[in-house]
Formats: sequence, C-alpha cells, structure tokens
Amino acid sequence: MSVDTIRWTGKAVRIIDQTKLPNKLVYIDCRDVDTLWHAIKTLQVRGAPALGIAAAFGVLLGIKGYKKDNSAAFVRYVCELCDYIGKSRPTAVNLFNALAQMRGLALNNVDKPVALLKAVLEAEARAIYEEDKAVCRAMGKHGAALIKNGGTYMTVCNAGGLATADYGTALGVFYAAKEAGKKFKVFALETRPLLQGARLTAWELMKNKIDVTLICDNMAATVMKDNKINGIFTGADRIAANGDAANKIGTYMLGVLAKHHAVPFYIVAPKTTFDLKIDHGRKIPIEERSADEVTSFAGTPTAPKGVKVFNPSFDVTPHELISGIVTEYGVIKTPYDRNIKKALL
Ligand code: MRU
Repeated sequence: MSVDTIRWTGKAVRIIDQTKLPNKLVYIDCRDVDTLWHAIKTLQVRGAPALGIAAAFGVLLGIKGYKKDNSAAFVRYVCELCDYIGKSRPTAVNLFNALAQMRGLALNNVDKPVALLKAVLEAEARAIYEEDKAVCRAMGKHGAALIKNGGTYMTVCNAGGLATADYGTALGVFYAAKEAGKKFKVFALETRPLLQGARLTAWELMKNKIDVTLICDNMAATVMKDNKINGIFTGADRIAANGDAANKIGTYMLGVLAKHHAVPFYIVAPKTTFDLKIDHGRKIPIEERSADEVTSFAGTPTAPKGVKVFNPSFDVTPHELISGIVTEYGVIKTPYDRNIKKALL
C-alpha cells in the first residue's frame, strides 16, 4: 500500500480528506495551524502514527510565518504551539510523543538563531515522517510471519496506510504477507460510529487486492463461531507499560470474543504508541466524541432528538487478552511489563 496520506509541501500540510473516502479521493492543503487542528479534530487526518506526523508538521505550519529573531521568545512560541496542537485529540500518544520531540529539540537549541532553529525543527518533522515509513515496513515483516497461507483474519477500524505515513500497522501485516506470496482472507468490522472500517479499511484492502469481507461490528461473534478465524490484528493508540492497549472502540470486544473462541489476538504498534509513564490501561485518557456521531447517519437523524448518548472513541484491551504486540523490534510476548521494557528501552 502506498498512499500519500500526509506530507509537508514546504508551505502546507497536504492530507487526504478521509471524511470523503471512499466516495472521493480529495487532498486538502492545511495552510495554518487552526485548519490542521480542525482536520485532526474532525478526523480528516486520523490514526495514531499519522496524528504524530500531523502534529510535527503542525509545528512547522505555526513557525513558518514567524518573523522576529529572539530565540528565547521563539522557543516559548513553539512550546505554546505544541500545547495548542496537543488539545486536538487526547488518546493517541503518538501525537504527544511527536510534540515532545519537537518541543525538546527547540528547548535544547535555544542558543541558536531563529533561522537555524526553524531548519532543525523542519528536519526533525521530516525525520518523524520518514521513520514512520521504515517502522511500518519492519512491523509488517515481523507480523507477516504470523499469517498462515490460506488463513482468515479479522481487523477493526483502520490501521493502514491511511493511518500512517504510507503502509500501516495492522494492515501493514497483511500487505507484507501478500508481498511474501501468502493468500488469505480478511473480515473487516465496519467500526461504528464513523465507519473507518467500512470507508477506509475496505477501500485500502480492495485497492491492494486483498480478499476482504465487510461485516457490521455486531457480527463479529457469529463470524468467529461459524468460521475458522486464524487471528485478529488491530492497531493501537496508546499502550501502557503493562501491555494494556487502547484502540478504537470495539477492540476490547474483539479481545473478549477472541479468548472465548481461542483465536490469537495481536496488537500491531510502533514504539511511538507506547506510553511507559502509564503503568495501567485504566489511566489512558479516552476521548469522548459528540453525540451527533451516534444519533445521525450522513446528516440524517437516526435516533430521537434529545436521547442520552455515550460515545467513547476508544476502549482498552487488558494485556491478558493480547497474544502478542507486533513492533518494529519483533513480537513482544507476555510477561509484558518486563518484555516491553526489554524491547523498547
Ligand atoms: O479515531 P481514529 O480513526 O483516529 O482511530 C484510529 C484507530 O483506532 C487505529 O486503530 C489506531 O490509531 C492505530 S492506526 C495505525
């Protein structure tokens, strides 16, 4: 899968407007930080690694028009920008890790002239983007070894090229397995309420000629009961030090179902998705989104006006339900608290 999900043009952050897929493949140029902030908030750009890249590029957007030459004031401004971008969405830690990288670099170079600081920050943001590409390929390679020729797999939301610089995490495993000559099938959950599975994953997998069958979220148990499912592969937005993993709402349900049906359940995520400052999944901030996402469909109301709604965008799968975490360093297995540190630090 090679898709130009996000790029820095030198003047703008160019993104695919993912809210328009699969009907239209439209690129938009975010030319200022507010436009990018809105694009993140409304999921025009989305997926944890892509959010990290968007945040880093967002800093470039913010500094490009900066005219004064006082470095201390410039660095303060970069810190304010990072704070602002960090308020767009709370769960994907990649966004905060990228901002911490940009902020740290600025703080460590406060003695440099503003022009040089700008160049250093641009190089860093570009490096975050390039590294994501390489890391996705590495995860794909490690994960592909878990795919059986002739097997059937399941995924939720979109953890593909559209969620990363170009190849994906969970879907990267499928792409790498296909490149290795394996034949297999994938069931993709539609992923209510915003249908990232139906709109994005089905689109990506079909474009890449992977045998995909779309199901509604509430069909997962039946599909697992009636079909031999060889494994479930999902992405993650934040993984705690004990291996508990936050991902799109519905992932925990798959973890529980996988255990009941004895199906291996894998999370695929890069180092930038781990939050080792958090020791337990219950401490991961979970984004709650607007009620309209649940009470309407494509602008048409689907529920009585005024009904109470609960709309958490993510859930946390406890590490006990996870068979392995596929990273760029290999597959991390239980005991997670020890093995995550061993692999990442
Ligand atoms: O709300 P979204 O679409 O940003 O949620 C995305 C997911 O849950 C993905 O599975 C996760 O970010 C991993 S993407 C490689």
